[in-house]
Amino acid sequence: MRFANIKDRKFTTIIHQFSLAFYNTYIQQIKHTKWNHHKWKGLTLMKDPMTLSVYMMIIQELKPKTILEFGTYDGGSALWMEDIIKSLLLECEIHTFDINKERVNLPEDSNIKSHKLDNNKINEFINERRFLFEKMERPILIIEDSHVNSAGIIRSLDPFLKSGDYLVIEDTLDQKKYQETLLSENGIKNMNYEVDTFYCDFWGVNNSWNVNSIFRKI
Ligand SMILES: C[S@@+](CC[C@H](N)C(=O)[O-])C[C@H]1O[C@@H](n2cnc3c(N)ncnc32)[C@H](O)[C@@H]1O
Repeated sequence: MRFANIKDRKFTTIIHQFSLAFYNTYIQQIKHTKWNHHKWKGLTLMKDPMTLSVYMMIIQELKPKTILEFGTYDGGSALWMEDIIKSLLLECEIHTFDINKERVNLPEDSNIKSHKLDNNKINEFINERRFLFEKMERPILIIEDSHVNSAGIIRSLDPFLKSGDYLVIEDTLDQKKYQETLLSENGIKNMNYEVDTFYCDFWGVNNSWNVNSIFRKI
């Protein structure tokens, strides 16, 4: 079955089956490359290759009309998504949020809306801009890639999502983030989401940095 309850999925990935020596080299190499060398139009595209390809598939299937990205860095991932959306002739409004908006370096002809947000103040931010969240066209794709108050971000945005919308929580290969965002009392295990195992296991069981953390709202 494609969709699964998070409680029925284990914190396991084929990456854990590598020998320790290969595992360490693999993790370090991919981290180094995605932070330093992986670029889109000169901007950092901080995604491992499997994750990038899964986003390409999700966008083609979901055809999102709104994307919210938490964690912009310099804007490479948002710009890449905008270009994929354009090449598919889709209409989609992309919003990207980061505490360090000064670093964002999107080209002038991009329609991406860049916002300054401290994740710890997400509720104030939403209250001041309710129209932005209430008017979102669906399907919606939310990407949490900022790693601060992630569970809080998800809780605050959940009321704006409806059945069929998608939520990707990145970097849950980090067991601490997995525990906090997925399995804590405040986490997604007590919310109305199911794991999309088709995308989580696309390149082999959880073969990416996102372990059991591609969700569809029920
Ligand atoms: C992993 S990077 C985002 C990478 C980008 N999504 C990509 O794929 O290329 C994480 C981002 O989270 C931002 N961040 C860190 N603390 C934050 C906070 N308290 N509120 C909002 N953003 C924060 C950082 O400034 C950084 O740009």
